[in-house]
Amino acid sequence: MSRHLTVLGCGTMGRAILGGLHADGVADGWTVRATVRHADRAARLARDLGWVTVSTDNLEAARGADVVVLATKPQIARGVLTADGMEDALRDTLVVSLCAGVRLSQLEAWAPSARHIRAMPNTPALIREGMTVLSPGSAATSDDLALAESIFAAVGRVRVLDEIHLDAVTGLSGSGPAFASVIVDALADGGVMMGLPRDVATELAAQTLQGTARMVLQTDIHPAALRDQVTTPAGCTIAGLFMMEEGRVRSTMARTVQEAATVAAGLGCGPDDPGPTGGRR
Ligand SMILES: NC(=O)c1ccc[n+]([C@@H]2O[C@H](COP(=O)([O-])OP(=O)(O)OC[C@H]3O[C@@H](n4cnc5c(N)ncnc54)[C@H](OP(=O)(O)O)[C@@H]3O)[C@@H](O)[C@H]2O)c1
Repeated sequence: MSRHLTVLGCGTMGRAILGGLHADGVADGWTVRATVRHADRAARLARDLGWVTVSTDNLEAARGADVVVLATKPQIARGVLTADGMEDALRDTLVVSLCAGVRLSQLEAWAPSARHIRAMPNTPALIREGMTVLSPGSAATSDDLALAESIFAAVGRVRVLDEIHLDAVTGLSGSGPAFASVIVDALADGGVMMGLPRDVATELAAQTLQGTARMVLQTDIHPAALRDQVTTPAGCTIAGLFMMEEGRVRSTMARTVQEAATVAAGLGCGPDDPGPTGGRR
């Protein structure tokens, strides 16, 4: 069915989603608009995404849209949604906010004429390997949720969870590509240290993480059981695992997610709404 989709604030995440949608063909025949703040970036984006109409005019881009994806930084969301004329432009529109830490109650207060869904995607959406969690607001219909699911299913896996989990989701899968990249790079460093060329070491590290991740997803075997399958008594793998334990890698990774989730919870807060972490960023 022909749709009108608008991405307000089309930076890293907006581009990843549009790129994935285009590759999947889901948006074929859709009218797609996007906005950014700077005119020169709008011109560049228009060149890069020839199938998308790009401007710096949020109001014009939002008018008549079936779905508006709000992909600005969280601190900008309120200003965009409460701009003069936006309430009319968003009347009966589905707004899907990607803004970390901006709660449904805030979205519903800032744009009361729209229906809202929060989404927490991640950047592998660009290659259609994303992970998105959706949380519907009080006015969102089952059709709205189905539409949002179809958009994000085109760029990876989708789950629907209660909003209470979204800060944890942000700290795990939203920020996760950065954490996983550090692991890939660190493993590759080890290979380089032992004489492998950098490109070979990076390929081996990335494919090993990808293969292991796919085994977890496709076999449903617990990661600890997969680890044990590789661990021969008195062998090299248990020696390596001892080094990981000495470096407290597991508690460091778990704490990494905890810290990211805590900061995420404060990203949508202002002085009048300190949120669950007292506005800590
Ligand atoms: N990056 C991630 O991995 C990730 C993952 C999950 C969720 N998210 C969420 O996705 C959102 C976007 O993150 P991002 O990393 O994509 O940020 P980003 O790359 O900085 O993109 C933000 C975009 O917003 C535009 N913008 C700024 N002010 C605007 C305004 N008043 N009107 C319209 N556009 C405006 C910027 O335009 P200019 O380029 O012209 O300044 C830029 O293109 C955030 O809320 C974040 O919480 C991000």
